[in-house]
Amino acid sequence: ITDLRGRSFLSEHDFTPAEIHHLLDLAADLKAAKRAGTERPRLTGRNLALVFEKTSTRTRCAFEVAAADQGAATTYLGPGDTHLGTKESVADTARVLGRMFDGIEYRGSAQSIVTELATHSGVPVYNGLTDTAHPTQSLCDVFTMREHSPKPLTDISYCYLGDARNNMGNSLLSMGALLGMDVRIAAPRALWPDPGLVADCRWFGERSGARITLTENVDTAVRGVDFLHTDVWVSMGEPAAAWRERIELLLPYQVNEKTLAATGNPDVRFMHCLPALHDDRTTLGRSLLDLYGLSALEVTDEVFSSPASLVFDQAENRLHTIKAVLVATLED
Ligand code: CP
Ligand code: NVA
Repeated sequence: ITDLRGRSFLSEHDFTPAEIHHLLDLAADLKAAKRAGTERPRLTGRNLALVFEKTSTRTRCAFEVAAADQGAATTYLGPGDTHLGTKESVADTARVLGRMFDGIEYRGSAQSIVTELATHSGVPVYNGLTDTAHPTQSLCDVFTMREHSPKPLTDISYCYLGDARNNMGNSLLSMGALLGMDVRIAAPRALWPDPGLVADCRWFGERSGARITLTENVDTAVRGVDFLHTDVWVSMGEPAAAWRERIELLLPYQVNEKTLAATGNPDVRFMHCLPALHDDRTTLGRSLLDLYGLSALEVTDEVFSSPASLVFDQAENRLHTIKAVLVATLED
């Protein structure tokens, strides 16, 4: 029996492959129960602190709705709402939150903050995104791939194109390496994940049977894959000035009709953690496309809005997978 009570989720590497499979199965059960109207609250009386030092749509809403569905209460602390790290040390804030709450979600920049919160709070801490990792997202992504493929997880292949040095590049590499999948990273060498993380992932890959490829060549990276993933080219917290360099480096890695065709797989599916800059209907998208004279950034609207796109199924699955993490770690 898999018992995850009291455990934190700071990065993919906090759980064994068997524990991740347990979370995926639990998420599937919880999703089915919600759909059938038979969900039973398993977290009645629990209290969760949701600390966000960066903005969020999906992650915050997923934690709040997951907690409400399961009978738990949440307190949202948005950017600038707490003393954390300014008037009060991370350790002291952790001790205080740990006296009042049964679990803490944290989104911010430094991975060391989630680690410190976990060390000093005495309650489970969930990484809701740092500059280094986005583990609740990669759990959702593997759940979504499993849902949309007839293959066992170990036979599924996917390619992440774009900024592979960011949280999503790291997290999708780590998750696939742990679970024995065929993981490809297509990115300019300057934007490959940290060599230390790649070495760790190769070590896990040798044990799980994962096939890990890092390449600058899009055609070889995407050939035969089941899923294409990408993410925004400049992440939260990075300076706007980074756009010029990133666009130059990453335009060849844009996901468009040609990329889909290069997979040679008519059933290939497109995924993106969102938010996505796929057209000019946002202020940021509009200004970037105008400024650089482009028609698309990380993905074309054609692909984003095509039947191949799973992005909104993927977004919904944040709810079910985050709920699984909460139930598994907080249930009596
Ligand atoms: N994918 C994701 O984490 O979205 P939010 O930034 O809206 O939470
Ligand atoms: N890499 C993106 C992910 C957003 C969910 C960012 O950090 O902004």
